[in-house]
Amino acid sequence: MKDLSSGKVFLIGAGPGDPELLTLKALRLMQSADVVVFDRLVSDEIMALVPDSIRRIDVGKMPGCHKVTQDRINALLVELARDGQTVVRLKGGDPLIFARGSEEAEVLREAGVSVSYVPGITAAQGAASSTGVPLTHRGLATGVRYVTGHRAKDARLDLNWASLASGDTTLVIYMGTANIAEIAFQLMRHGVPSTLPVMAVSSATTPRERRILSTLGGIAADVAAAEPDAPVLFVIGHVVSLYDSIALADALSCDGAGMAAYA
Ligand SMILES: C[S@@+](CC[C@H](N)C(=O)[O-])C[C@H]1O[C@@H](n2cnc3c(N)ncnc32)[C@H](O)[C@@H]1O
Repeated sequence: MKDLSSGKVFLIGAGPGDPELLTLKALRLMQSADVVVFDRLVSDEIMALVPDSIRRIDVGKMPGCHKVTQDRINALLVELARDGQTVVRLKGGDPLIFARGSEEAEVLREAGVSVSYVPGITAAQGAASSTGVPLTHRGLATGVRYVTGHRAKDARLDLNWASLASGDTTLVIYMGTANIAEIAFQLMRHGVPSTLPVMAVSSATTPRERRILSTLGGIAADVAAAEPDAPVLFVIGHVVSLYDSIALADALSCDGAGMAAYA
């Protein structure tokens, strides 16, 4: 019989996909919890590390097709914890970067449930390491910004374009595939040159990883032509010019005109 006062929830980042990028703490908790509640972005390879004896609940959501609502997920976590369970809430990347981890924690705390976070490697850092493209670099980028490219259905993509177009900062766009044409257009409209290098990386750090090397002016057409599978991340900035020429050989698509600008 479970002790009803002992239920707790660990909001854990599973990293970008490669199971070896899990933290030791994440792995230990995944292998000792009562139940693992996981998202679509948590790879099969990572879920394979959860022992069969541990209950799994898939609350994965496909873009535009929410399998389980956020309210339902919140309620489920509260229910499980109140039932005395030790719950691992496993999310792709880091639980505090575009992951609604803090929203879930707030609901849990309001319900009197004990919550802890375990960080994960966010997709931007995974993609930087797997492609060799740094997010900052002396002389090319003084900083990096993680930006959402997602907009709610029928809403405008409401970003501060003038500040994003500042030039010496790398932009990493999460959830940007559907709006990449608009993002590129707005950045160019705010003064960013169409020749600025852009890289799209899909399924970074997994065997399914693909890269598209392009420019701001060409990225929308290149992505439309290549149709990379989700999840896809965009790195926009001069740092992309450092992409190793050896890696270019296995790029999914490489627009000749775009590459010529920084070959
Ligand atoms: C809801 S956000 C989750 C971000 C996650 N919490 C993180 O820290 O990476 C989903 C977006 O993350 C990006 N993403 C996550 N994993 C990725 C991967 N392995 N490769 C490329 N992009 C990824 C994509 O832009 C995707 O649309």
